[in-house]
Amino acid sequence: MSSDSTTASTAAFVEQLLARMTLEQKVGQMLQPERMAITPDEVARHHIGSVLSGGGSAPGANLPADWIAMNDAYWAASMRDEPGRVPIPLLYGVDAVHGHGNVLGATIFPHNIGLGAARDPDLIERIAQITAREVLATGVEWTFAPTLAVARHLYWGRTYESFSEDTALVASYAAPFVRGMQGDLGEDSVIACAKHWVGDGGTTDGRDQGNTVLPESELERVHMAPYLPALEAGVLTVMASFNSWNGVKCHGNRYLITEVLKERLGFDGFVVSDWDGVDYLSDDPAEALAIATNAGIDMFMVSVKWRQYLDLLLQHVRTGVVPMSRIDDAVRRILSVKHRYGLFDRPRPAERKWSQVSCLGAPEHRAVAREAVRKSLVLLQNEGEILPLSRSARILVAGKNADNRGHQCGGFTVAWQGTSGNQSVIGGTSIWEGIREVAPGAVLSEDGSAADAAAHDVAIVVIGETPYAEGMGDIRPPGLAPLGSSPAGQPAQLSPYGETLELRLLHPEDLAVIRAIEAKGIPVVAVLVSGRPLIIDTELQHTAAFVAAWLPGSEGQGVADVLFGDFPFTGVLPFSWPRIATRWPSGYGL
Ligand code: GLC
Repeated sequence: MSSDSTTASTAAFVEQLLARMTLEQKVGQMLQPERMAITPDEVARHHIGSVLSGGGSAPGANLPADWIAMNDAYWAASMRDEPGRVPIPLLYGVDAVHGHGNVLGATIFPHNIGLGAARDPDLIERIAQITAREVLATGVEWTFAPTLAVARHLYWGRTYESFSEDTALVASYAAPFVRGMQGDLGEDSVIACAKHWVGDGGTTDGRDQGNTVLPESELERVHMAPYLPALEAGVLTVMASFNSWNGVKCHGNRYLITEVLKERLGFDGFVVSDWDGVDYLSDDPAEALAIATNAGIDMFMVSVKWRQYLDLLLQHVRTGVVPMSRIDDAVRRILSVKHRYGLFDRPRPAERKWSQVSCLGAPEHRAVAREAVRKSLVLLQNEGEILPLSRSARILVAGKNADNRGHQCGGFTVAWQGTSGNQSVIGGTSIWEGIREVAPGAVLSEDGSAADAAAHDVAIVVIGETPYAEGMGDIRPPGLAPLGSSPAGQPAQLSPYGETLELRLLHPEDLAVIRAIEAKGIPVVAVLVSGRPLIIDTELQHTAAFVAAWLPGSEGQGVADVLFGDFPFTGVLPFSWPRIATRWPSGYGL
């Protein structure tokens, strides 16, 4: 974290490299285009420092071999040793935020909200270690995780990416995650990225990319605090946040990025922008890029307009709008991270240790994910101690989320907005498949129409939300304009998930199934698959037992492990649970 963590050898290596680099080569290192917008040959010609996969952006058939081939080609291009080039290995980044979610067959862990319910920092470290191996098995070196958001408003579509509303709980996970992911920065390690700096979980009414209105003391106490253990653990990158703080966009806030994060807190890795986050600083791209660069952003995650950024940055340096010292500082940080990670000494992706191992979805990985599911479950109601269930009971399983691995994984799984059905989440078990394993006599009837009191002792009804990500998951009360990050306030046209947290209004189909089964005299055990607490007072009145399962990921079997008593309920709510549909002082939030 402090300058002495950048050993003298790294500093010396970086200086000699920097001295050999032209301005074009330096500026190229500061760009991170999306894979669909740049070829390996363009990476070589323009000295590009990094490439990313956005959510769901995958090569070929989206199998490890396709990823390794892609990364090998980008790496080789970045290492071309020819006149006018300085070979500098490229970093490939991806959102492995609950396992290597983009890739078919990967182990998908519960999203962070469920891990928050587990209250288990050691588990977090093990999950990060496993995720690192599955990321390395695809030739990727960098993940945009952990999310250290402290979500303070359940309207936010990214609530599930937050471990908790409680700062201390989020902070307790930061260092274990970084340790698990970055390890000793050796061949089993992946570069981590603490995000999003800062205050992403505190926006008014939980609007994604909105405005966090707080005095600095509160911003520090609630939202900055989890970064301290991450920095102490040596996190190598930090991602700037889309939100504003007191009306100023974080991407253009020199005080937050340079004075606080880099100077006061001593962060000596590099800061990466979020997806085109610079665009929202001004309607004039040149002005926006100048503001962001001078604010302290070191690398630009620029989905497609990387050529424009290249030209503008060169122009800004040549006209003095951006001092050369800022460019050198950014490139020093990027090269230093690459050197500390050992990237200059690693073989090409195709020849690395984990590229030879097909560890994606390995049984021992899935076993840890299943353990995480068990530990994430929170028992909200258990009338007459109906739980745990007997394996010999005559069980009906119903609900739209019962046999749907896509739904139980949520966003950032194979696709940015997640998927539906079982076919795209290869491996793992749906909640129904897990129940059937334990109680072979169980019957699946998604709409509950097969319910028959003469044939069924109890019904397990799996209900809740369907997948979403970011602003598409926002709950926006009528009349609240969608905010988004547009510069002059033009609303980002993201359609919200709904207008209320009341499940009976958001998904009336769930209560309908519950009541139809209850009307036949069969007791109902409800299992809620959701990215956040929802208002379920009506559903509670019509169910005997109620379990919060959050977004359990690929190992739905973990739910059956607890429903049938092989393991106890140990999960504890990571968020306050709303009881009534009235606006809290600041909306449905703290
Ligand atoms: C998204 C998210 C960020 C993610 C990035 C790359 O917009 O805000 O968390 O890492 O883009 O997919």
